Amino acid sequence: MLYYAILRIALLAFCSFITASLAAPTRRGCSIFTDLVVFGDSSSDDGNFYKASNDVWPSSPYYRGAFSNGPVWSHYLAAAERWNVHTYAYAYSTSNSSYVPPVAPVPSTPIPGVVQQVDLFKPTANTFNPNKTLIAIWNQGNDFADAVMQANPNVVAQSIANAITALYTSGMRHFLLFQILDMTKTPALLPYKGSPVYQWFSEMGTAYNGALATFVSQFTTQHTDVRFTTVNTNQFFTQYAPKFKNTSAPCLTVNGTTVDSVCSNVVDHLFWDDTHPTTAGHALLANYVYSLLKPNTA
Ligand SMILES: *[C@@H]1O[C@H](CO)[C@@H](O)[C@H](O)[C@H]1NC(C)=O
Ligand SMILES: *[C@@H]1O[C@H](CO)[C@@H](O)[C@H](O)[C@H]1NC(C)=O
Ligand SMILES: *[C@@H]1O[C@H](CO)[C@@H](O)[C@H](O)[C@H]1NC(C)=O
Ligand SMILES: *[C@@H]1O[C@H](CO)[C@@H](O)[C@H](O)[C@H]1NC(C)=O
Repeated sequence: MLYYAILRIALLAFCSFITASLAAPTRRGCSIFTDLVVFGDSSSDDGNFYKASNDVWPSSPYYRGAFSNGPVWSHYLAAAERWNVHTYAYAYSTSNSSYVPPVAPVPSTPIPGVVQQVDLFKPTANTFNPNKTLIAIWNQGNDFADAVMQANPNVVAQSIANAITALYTSGMRHFLLFQILDMTKTPALLPYKGSPVYQWFSEMGTAYNGALATFVSQFTTQHTDVRFTTVNTNQFFTQYAPKFKNTSAPCLTVNGTTVDSVCSNVVDHLFWDDTHPTTAGHALLANYVYSLLKPNTA
C-alpha cells in the first residue's frame, strides 16, 4: 500500500509538529478526536454490504469489501490520526430507504439508508464521548441514480438534516459533512453528456448541496455548541483530479456482479469503476479532509 504509507508519513510528520507546539500529551494523533463514525454509501463502506450479501459482492479485485482497489478515505484518515473507525455506511444506500428504496446487484440484501443507519447507531451513542467523536456523513447520490428524474433534492437533503438532528439529539456535536460530487464528473454519466438526464444529475448535486448548506447555517445558529466541517467534493475534484492521467475512464468494467476487465495502469486512474475512486483518490481525499479539519480541531 504505497499511498497508504506516503499519506501516513505525511500526516504524522505534520501532526507531531502541531502536538509538540501545543504540548497536549493526551492527544493520540494531532486532533481532539479518538473516534470517527461514518454514515453513507459505497464511498465509505468498508465491508458492510459485502457481509450483508454473504460475501458475494464486491469480489476481487475489489479490496476487502470496499468499493475500490484499496482502503477508502476514512481508513487513511483514521490511521493517520490514530482514531477508531466505526462504519455504518452501506453501499447502494439512499438517504432514506423508505423514500427511495436502494437498488443493488445482489437481490434481497438489506440496505439501511442514512437515516436508518443512524437508527442503528443511536442505541450505542452513549458509549461515545461527544467531544472526542467525529461524525462523518457522505451521501453521494444513490437517491438520484435509483429514482432518475424523480428524486427531490430538497427531500434528500431533509433526510440528511433529519439524520444530523437525530445524531445531535443523541449527544453528537462534531460533524464532517460531505457535499455531493457533481455526478456528471463520474465515468458512469459520460455517455449521457448533452442529454437532459445528464443536466438533471448535475442540477441535483447543486440543489442538494445548496439545501444542505442552508440547513447547516440554520442549525448552527440554533445550536451554538455544534461544529460542522463541510467537505466541498467539487473543489477537491478540481484541485486533485489533475494529479491523475486519466479522469474520464474507469480502470475496471463491471456488469452486474461480474468484473469484465481490469486495466494494467491503475495508478493513472482517478476512477476504479465507473462511479468510485481508486484508493489513490481516496488517499488524496483523506489528505484534503485533513486540511479542512486541522483549523477546527488543532
Ligand atoms: C423517511 O421516508 C419516509 C417515507 O417518505 C418518511 O415517512 C419518514 O419521515 C422519513 N424519515 C426521515 C427520518 O426523514
Ligand atoms: C464536553 O465538553 C463540554 C464543553 O466543554 C463539557 O461541558 C462536557 O462535560 C464534555 N463532555 C464530556 C463527556 O466530557
Ligand atoms: C482514458 O482511458 C481510456 C480507456 O483506456 C481511453 O480511451 C482514454 O483515451 C483515456 N483518456 C485520457 C485523457 O488519457
Ligand atoms: C451483462 O450480462 C448479462 C447477463 O450475463 C448479458 O446478457 C449482457 O449482455 C451483459 N451486458 C453487457 C453490456 O455486456
